[in-house]
Amino acid sequence: MASKTLPYLFSTLLFLLQLQFSAGQTEVKAAYWFPGTGLSVSSIDSTLFTHLFCAFADLDQTIYQVTISASNSAQFSTFTQTVQQKNPSVKTLLSIGGGDAVAPTFASMAGQASTRKSFIDSSIQLARANNFHGLDLDWEYPSTATEFTNLGLLLNEWRAAVANEATSSGNTPLLLVAAFFYSSNYYGLSYPIQAITNSLDWVNVMAYDFTSPFSWSTAPNLTGAPAALYNPTSQVSGDSGIAAWIQAGVSAKKLVLGVPFYGYAWRLVNANDNGIFAPANGAALSDAITYNEIKDFIAQNSDTTTVYNSTFVTNYCYSGTTWIGYDDTQSISTKVTYAKGKGLLGYFAWQVGQDKDFVLSQTASSAWGA
Ligand SMILES: *[C@@H]1O[C@H](CO)[C@@H](O)[C@H](O)[C@H]1NC(C)=O
Ligand SMILES: *[C@@H]1O[C@H](CO)[C@@H](O)[C@H](O)[C@H]1NC(C)=O
Repeated sequence: MASKTLPYLFSTLLFLLQLQFSAGQTEVKAAYWFPGTGLSVSSIDSTLFTHLFCAFADLDQTIYQVTISASNSAQFSTFTQTVQQKNPSVKTLLSIGGGDAVAPTFASMAGQASTRKSFIDSSIQLARANNFHGLDLDWEYPSTATEFTNLGLLLNEWRAAVANEATSSGNTPLLLVAAFFYSSNYYGLSYPIQAITNSLDWVNVMAYDFTSPFSWSTAPNLTGAPAALYNPTSQVSGDSGIAAWIQAGVSAKKLVLGVPFYGYAWRLVNANDNGIFAPANGAALSDAITYNEIKDFIAQNSDTTTVYNSTFVTNYCYSGTTWIGYDDTQSISTKVTYAKGKGLLGYFAWQVGQDKDFVLSQTASSAWGA
């Protein structure tokens, strides 16, 4: 008797749990905001977004609690209230982690039930205390099969804790989101699909950083489309990644396509050989270049040629031996239209402070539609 009823009860509970958190979001038009990149929280045009991610909260290396650094605390604690002044219905999420330096701490935290609990409980407490509507995991990246398994445990326990907290507080459950690799397959390792489906409201698919002039790229000395939607020469593209996620079993309705508000600058070997896959001598700049800076570069160098390549869905521009691959309005609107056409939940940008006068944010919002 029990052996038949229990699984039934369990699956009914899971089903109800899923209904409880999947009812809310019908679309996601989102961007991250990151402090110290020139755009104050009060200057964000929040009318262009349904959701804003506040990045990043930190993960303590010894007790595995989520914290907000002292230098960020004033801006983070008033983030929701501030962005809701222009758009009272915008939802906010606190993003945890970020760069690859935090990855080992995430891996240790996820490896044990007690440290997962510290992480989960402190994250929920921190989100509520600072008036966020949700939490976003930015673990870049789990890198072993065990770490991917532990990620699945973490997501399921996190969802259960979020549901419990909502029941006991009487509040709407916090949103639970994670930013993942562009593909469900991370160099031969698979993301935990069942846990993602059961426990996350959606996945932010980081469909960018496919190539660059830096050493982490597979071809730093060839110009390229850093966030190509399509790539006829390889499997590394936004479209391949989205197809892989759907093929692996994640519903299109849980996928949110990431677009970059930045690009990369290469130094051409020959100014006259200036297409995609042109020979380069590494980077023209020591870091990525924001869309804002790219527009300034184009304005200041009157000989700059700008190109939209619809095969890759990328923009690039060049002046002399400086060659920049990036997303301008054509790439952004094509990608957002693609996301809508594929039945995805929406799009997000990294990050709004890199935009030029909200041109790309506006383009994305219009391409998605009301
Ligand atoms: C985009 O660039 C590739 C590589 O140079 C080229 O083969 C292709 O024809 C270009 N697409 C368009 C539409 O110009
Ligand atoms: C790329 O070019 C730079 C500058 O010429 C050089 O130092 C570097 O070794 C090259 N990288 C590769 C992978 O060939």
